Amino acid sequence: MTNKNPIGIIDSGVGGLTVVKELQTLLPDEDIIYFGDNKNVPYGSKSQEEIISLTKKMLDFLVEHNVKLVGVGCNTISTVLNLINPDYDLKIIGIVDPTVKYIAKLPGKKVGLIATPFTVNSKYYNQTLASIDNTKELVSEGCPQLATLIDRGDFNQEELKKEVEKHITPIVTNHAINSIVLGCTHYPIILDLLKEYYPGINFINPAFYQAMAMKEYLTENNLLANNNSYFEVYTTGDREKYQLLIKMLNLKEPDKITKL
Ligand code: DGL
Repeated sequence: MTNKNPIGIIDSGVGGLTVVKELQTLLPDEDIIYFGDNKNVPYGSKSQEEIISLTKKMLDFLVEHNVKLVGVGCNTISTVLNLINPDYDLKIIGIVDPTVKYIAKLPGKKVGLIATPFTVNSKYYNQTLASIDNTKELVSEGCPQLATLIDRGDFNQEELKKEVEKHITPIVTNHAINSIVLGCTHYPIILDLLKEYYPGINFINPAFYQAMAMKEYLTENNLLANNNSYFEVYTTGDREKYQLLIKMLNLKEPDKITKL
């Protein structure tokens, strides 16, 4: 493995693009290969076995493309990463662990967490946080439809707004929380809408902390590249959706988008 090899990012759909955004800012000279399994979104309503099996297909694909590091741009997959990691001779960095280290430093006793039902039910965020700071409480809410609605790429839909209100308003009104962790990589895509609905809340985007952890790993292992920031997207869904989202998130124009 050399420093010139690309970084791989995986997600069930377009959510991992929020991680690409942070990476392109923090590590602008890296090549990135993105894999979005949009055909199978949402992962957050699937069984652990299904999630592991679909994830391994994406990882095998990235191994064939000689990536030097994989960033799991998906909270749901990150909660089962311990069960996948031993099968790969490859550095794989999840999104939850680096985020929890930051949550532990937040002021206040209670912090909100919105995520997929799988992520919430796994209690992975809670257990990881308890291992660092057992005085903090996570007020968690699973949002069964939110990732799928965002993955459609239509942000004016009433259904999306209803889902936001249904799941976020109760945790904001019933608990003394100042911060809510966006525990699904799809959610920062609608950050403007969330801020408009809940102006007093500090929304935390885990993508930043994961990108920092990736930078740290590459730096410590002398694997930082000075490439031309080649950016290639593979999707099992629509290419057009990526064109739209990449523009909306202000990402670097991809060199290639391939439908698998
Ligand atoms: N973007 C993913 C996450 O961070 C999963 C969305 C889904 O497929 O349910 O959890």
